[in-house]
Amino acid sequence: MSPFRLSRTLPGDAMEAALRADVLEGLTGTPKTLPPKWFYDARGSELFERITELPEYYPTRAEREILADRAGEIAAAAGARTLVELGSGSSEKTRYLLDALTGLRAYVPVDVSESALTLAGRALAAERPELRVHALIADFTAGLTLPDTPGPRLLVFLGGTIGNLLPAERAAFLSSVRALLSPGDALLLGTDLVKDEEVLVRAYDDAAGVTAAFNKNVLTVINRELGADFDPAAFDHVALWDARREWIEMRLRSRTAQTVKVPALGLAVDFAAGEELRTEVSAKFREAGVRGELSAAGLEPARWWTDGAGRFALSLSVAR
Ligand SMILES: C[S@@+](CC[C@H](N)C(=O)[O-])C[C@H]1O[C@@H](n2cnc3c(N)ncnc32)[C@H](O)[C@@H]1O
Repeated sequence: MSPFRLSRTLPGDAMEAALRADVLEGLTGTPKTLPPKWFYDARGSELFERITELPEYYPTRAEREILADRAGEIAAAAGARTLVELGSGSSEKTRYLLDALTGLRAYVPVDVSESALTLAGRALAAERPELRVHALIADFTAGLTLPDTPGPRLLVFLGGTIGNLLPAERAAFLSSVRALLSPGDALLLGTDLVKDEEVLVRAYDDAAGVTAAFNKNVLTVINRELGADFDPAAFDHVALWDARREWIEMRLRSRTAQTVKVPALGLAVDFAAGEELRTEVSAKFREAGVRGELSAAGLEPARWWTDGAGRFALSLSVAR
């Protein structure tokens, strides 16, 4: 078994302070919002894995198809000795890259979900004795410091997770990614593409209700961590397409007028009947837009691949 290391860039109490700040800001604002990173406790990560297997949820299958077809080309272009993955989750699709990158020495998965990192990291370290696996519990929007591992680096951000950032957050995030890279390093970015509204909405509102359970899980996280008394059954899962901004929004709609207490924040939050709390934005992209955002961050988009049905894209950029 190769060495497996798990470390944090932020102490546990800083994560709790970040949750408190986000919940306070999000539940006292108009409209009410919560950032999607708080979905992902152990149950949230498990529910996300179930989502990736749903018939309606095409992004994982589409991205896997591209990786299966193109991993060799990506590996040849990047020639990386370190693979860094942001929001790595189960690292399941990453295996195509780990297999193709023959000179790889280190894998650095980065995620807020300790359970997902531990599960995936330990399994990979056991299977790949030649690989140093250094998992990092960290918020990829909060100024990352990467461990000292050999270059060149390939930084990958899969799953379309970049779409969960709002446009200004995305620009700041891409600039911070650029700052992590040295000349000769590369970024592989997965972006879900604009498509038919019905297909998009179904992907976020499946018939089995798994996405609804995932959405409501953020309320359970706040109940556990901040002593709140959200009743998840008192909210309905909503997924809708915003055609102007080209993003899916997930919301939780209050079934009745109700007041929710959050004792750790000394807060009582009133919800009107039908009032909605936005829990996730998932932006969908077009090629020109992705290229423009990468260039604006000082990254040179070099390659663009889609799956056969044109649903999802992977782009490879190099640090200018
Ligand atoms: C949509 S899932 C994608 C998982 C995996 N990359 C895939 O393609 O299936 C998003 C992942 O990013 C993690 N995540 C979300 N926000 C994060 C943040 N701000 N910092 C670090 N990880 C985050 C979640 O825990 C989750 O594992």
